[in-house]
Amino acid sequence: MKNKFNQLRDEFLEQLARVKTNEHLKELELKFLSRRGRLSELMGGLKDLNVDLKKEAGELANNVKKELQEKFNALSKSLNNLVAKNNEIDVTLPGANLAQGHLNPITLVQNELEDIFSSLGFMILDGPELESDYYNFTALNIPPNHPARDMQDTFYVDYKNKDGHYDLLMRTQTSPVQIRAMQKYGAPLKALIPGRCFRNEATDARHEHTFYQVEGLLIGENINFANLKSFLEIVGQRLFGPNTKLRMRPKFFPFVEPGNNGEYTCFLCQGSGCRVCKQTGWLEIVGAGLIHPEVLRAGGIDPEIYSGLAFGFGLNRLAMLKYNINDIRLFNSGDLKFLEQF
Ligand code: PHE
Repeated sequence: MKNKFNQLRDEFLEQLARVKTNEHLKELELKFLSRRGRLSELMGGLKDLNVDLKKEAGELANNVKKELQEKFNALSKSLNNLVAKNNEIDVTLPGANLAQGHLNPITLVQNELEDIFSSLGFMILDGPELESDYYNFTALNIPPNHPARDMQDTFYVDYKNKDGHYDLLMRTQTSPVQIRAMQKYGAPLKALIPGRCFRNEATDARHEHTFYQVEGLLIGENINFANLKSFLEIVGQRLFGPNTKLRMRPKFFPFVEPGNNGEYTCFLCQGSGCRVCKQTGWLEIVGAGLIHPEVLRAGGIDPEIYSGLAFGFGLNRLAMLKYNINDIRLFNSGDLKFLEQF
């Protein structure tokens, strides 16, 4: 019996000497020292001995157990110290520089517009980029086969609906969300709708097939042209500064009546004429008008009770003016030399 304990002790110490890792140490603990380990097993055998032997062997067993446990603890401690030391952090070393991301210029301008309009009580909405012919055109007072559809070169999607009609397209404007917003929220309504739009353009420095617009919608009782004018004035002053003036010129959009182009004092030359405003002193910034009664009707709103105004900004154009960007194709180019300037 005594021999067996001594043998176990030697074996344990020999293996302990070769332990290098905590995992290894745990295995050893399981094998020798745990409740089902070899030491317990051996001690279990003590109960079959006669009283004298039991006393002597028991004493030895306890000593061995104590010794093994102590050696084990000591090694465990020094291994842990080693690990802690390896993980030690030198706080005086210079930190690794994290590459900092930044926002696309379109996002910067969009955020600015969202701030201006949410401060005026507008909610910010979005809508689908893959749109139906109905929302993009018909509901906006542009019936099928109407020549006004030719104003926007459209990407139609090669997919027929149940009735055999092609009625899906990539939205050419954010205006279809006007209808969606009216249907969802009814009147009165104040909403701003930024989003990506698509047109089948021959691209050049001023034309791009994928671009961004921001649509605005204000519906209530007795909204009139004077409201539209003062409203666009406020927006211009918030965007370009308090001395900005507004000039409205008639322009046809099928979903507003009357429709106009809002032009603001050129923020670069303050109206005296420069390269950016082509010497006119004015910048064409926003398409706008009073919402056509047919459009309100399509949105489920009674034009006898409510009227409204709608307007649309081209975000790319705003960003190009603001940051002096001379080619619209840069926005989609993924060119880091361009993007990292913002
Ligand atoms: N959707 C028009 C366009 O893309 C802009 C617009 C919006 C005009 C709202 C008037 C009112 O040209």
